[in-house]
Amino acid sequence: MSEPRIHDDVEEVLLTHEQITARVAELGAQLATDYADRNPVLVSVLKGSIIFLADLVRAMDVPLAIDLMEVSSYGAATESSGQVRILKDLSGSIEGRHVIVVEDIIDTGLTLNYLLRYLEDRGPASIQVCCLLDKPARRLASIEIDYRGFTIPDRFVIGYGLDYDERYRNLPYIGVLRPSVYTPAAE
Ligand code: PRP
Repeated sequence: MSEPRIHDDVEEVLLTHEQITARVAELGAQLATDYADRNPVLVSVLKGSIIFLADLVRAMDVPLAIDLMEVSSYGAATESSGQVRILKDLSGSIEGRHVIVVEDIIDTGLTLNYLLRYLEDRGPASIQVCCLLDKPARRLASIEIDYRGFTIPDRFVIGYGLDYDERYRNLPYIGVLRPSVYTPAAE
């Protein structure tokens, strides 16, 4: 019997590991230049963003700090209300600090819209947003993205931190999930 391979559930590779690596290096270099003397705090949101964050900070040869938050949506209600619940708060103060919010994907924008207001209330000197993937087709909240890796079409993407049902985060590339995985009757 053959072992299950997560690659087999990928319909199409949207962004190769090489493309991602090259773009993350560019983003890191740009951030390092822009934040050279500001000792920024990179605030990332568990779990999907950790792969991007881990690569991004290693492309930034400047002093910086990392903090992690975890948020949870209220299920279907989130789509309309944008209410999220904080499961893990910041570990340290961001008062007077220059914050860079690092996200893997901005889809509806509701999560980040909430998070930005939450962080702003904690008195940072500045907040900017860095996301790997921007999926503007489904945007419900207006978000200003300062650093963007790629703009992607409205497809179900997995890999490089992004999951379906907690799987596929460990794919080294961004792929499109086969519809048969989430709608078994489709094939
Ligand atoms: C993803 C992503 C963002 C959010 C974006 O997290 O990391 O936080 O969704 O979606 P939005 O723009 O529509 O609000 P998810 O809730 O899938 O959790 P995960 O990172 O643990 O997979």
